[in-house]
Amino acid sequence: MSDDSSRRDFLKGTAATLGAAALRPSLSDAALQPRASTGPAPETLLLAAPPLDRIRVGFVGVGGMGTVHLENYLALDGVDVVAICDIDPSHAERGRQKVVAAGQKPPALYTRGVRDFERMIGEQELDLVFTATPWEWHVPVMLEALRTGKHGATEVPAAYRVDDCWALVEAAEKYRKHCVMMENCCYDRREMLAFMLARKGILGELLHAECGYLHDLRSIKFSTDGEGLWRRAHAMEHNGNRYPTHGLGPIAQCFDINRGNQFDYLVSMSSPQRGLTLYAQEHLSADDPRRKELYKLGDVNVTLIRTVKGQTIYLAHNTDSPRPYSRLNTVQGTRGLIQGWPDRIYIEGRAEKSDEWEPLDKFYAEFEHPLWKSETVKQATRGHGGMDFLEDFRFVSCLRAGLPTDQNVYDAAAWSVVCELTDRSVADRSRPQDVPDFTRGKWKTTAPLGIVEA
Ligand SMILES: NC(=O)c1ccc[n+]([C@@H]2O[C@H](COP(=O)([O-])OP(=O)(O)OC[C@H]3O[C@@H](n4cnc5c(N)ncnc54)[C@H](O)[C@@H]3O)[C@@H](O)[C@H]2O)c1
Repeated sequence: MSDDSSRRDFLKGTAATLGAAALRPSLSDAALQPRASTGPAPETLLLAAPPLDRIRVGFVGVGGMGTVHLENYLALDGVDVVAICDIDPSHAERGRQKVVAAGQKPPALYTRGVRDFERMIGEQELDLVFTATPWEWHVPVMLEALRTGKHGATEVPAAYRVDDCWALVEAAEKYRKHCVMMENCCYDRREMLAFMLARKGILGELLHAECGYLHDLRSIKFSTDGEGLWRRAHAMEHNGNRYPTHGLGPIAQCFDINRGNQFDYLVSMSSPQRGLTLYAQEHLSADDPRRKELYKLGDVNVTLIRTVKGQTIYLAHNTDSPRPYSRLNTVQGTRGLIQGWPDRIYIEGRAEKSDEWEPLDKFYAEFEHPLWKSETVKQATRGHGGMDFLEDFRFVSCLRAGLPTDQNVYDAAAWSVVCELTDRSVADRSRPQDVPDFTRGKWKTTAPLGIVEA
């Protein structure tokens, strides 16, 4: 949707009261076609903005994950948190207290409803707007930030419609600002080891990967605060994978997506829906109106993505079944494979015994990613075992040094567009869906992501 006013009308209302129309994927085939850039054609996909000595940040949405990022930013050098926006005044106030406790000036608070981020962005001198709102607000916040000359950072997924992915790319190109999706799982220790093994050729030629987001969120989805206020609504309105990037992001980096390689097409199918209905029947009182809700989202969604090099990626989503957590994180090459949950590896010629898994220890000793070896990162234990701090640390370091960011708007678009494409494929007997080339061909000449140092 490129028309801002219709986007606004479309998204009006609170997260908790999202109606069917607000969440229905747009099915215009035009959105899948290559588009002309509306701004100056980028010479490279790797935007480097002028360095910032200090970064003035405005946060939008400081619930669970926004607070994690806020705390990280307060622990980083060169960051001033100057404003906080949240529809829940108690969340904004909690954020204000954290900023003051960290020795910074009290930030301005914006708590006058779902569009008050516009007032914050209009009034405050900001370098960066960071949104950790419910999914439906990521795109409006990011577009407002970019349009007014700020960098934007968003939680995942950046967008869940094809049109919105294009809108983010077009705005970032037009205003020459970073538009980064903060995919923290790209910074987890084993994912970064897999990246190193891929880069160093230890896995051989990469052939196949398996990844996903397999996390029992049933109780969270029925909670009376946090994600319970908005996430279930999405399960009523779509049937596909609306949370693909935790699994797919790290694999995309291993496979050089947008940097010498591209997703080509995908096919997707969903199992029956059961988990949320069962949970409601078994845990909610007989008169709870949520027992009448009808969900479309199949408990297990599986997708196969083919890259232009012919590699295959299995991507799974399941947040509604009893099961331990996993992102799978399997990378198979011609010489062996690494796998997560449980962590294990088999490399032909290096394994002590043929046909037997080994632990990762000796590979960490030899191939640990430099960022995980840095003292700064070793001391940071907060946020999902350290990966959240590492992603914030890296992003802020890049902004301050004027370097291209590790993830950019093309990555945000290519990883997030899977949301609508899986819905389309599921709705159409798993027919293949082409993945748009958001780089408009520039992926062929963009250098692969390097092994960055702290
Ligand atoms: N990367 C990760 O590991 C990870 C983990 C959890 C959540 N997330 C992502 O973070 C985002 C937020 O999730 P959460 O768990 O923190 O949810 P949450 O409900 O705890 O927090 C959302 C916050 O946004 C506020 N909000 C809602 N609409 C708003 C608006 N229009 N303007 C300003 N504030 C608004 C809410 O009051 C709340 O404080 C989601 O995109 C989610 O997918 C990522």
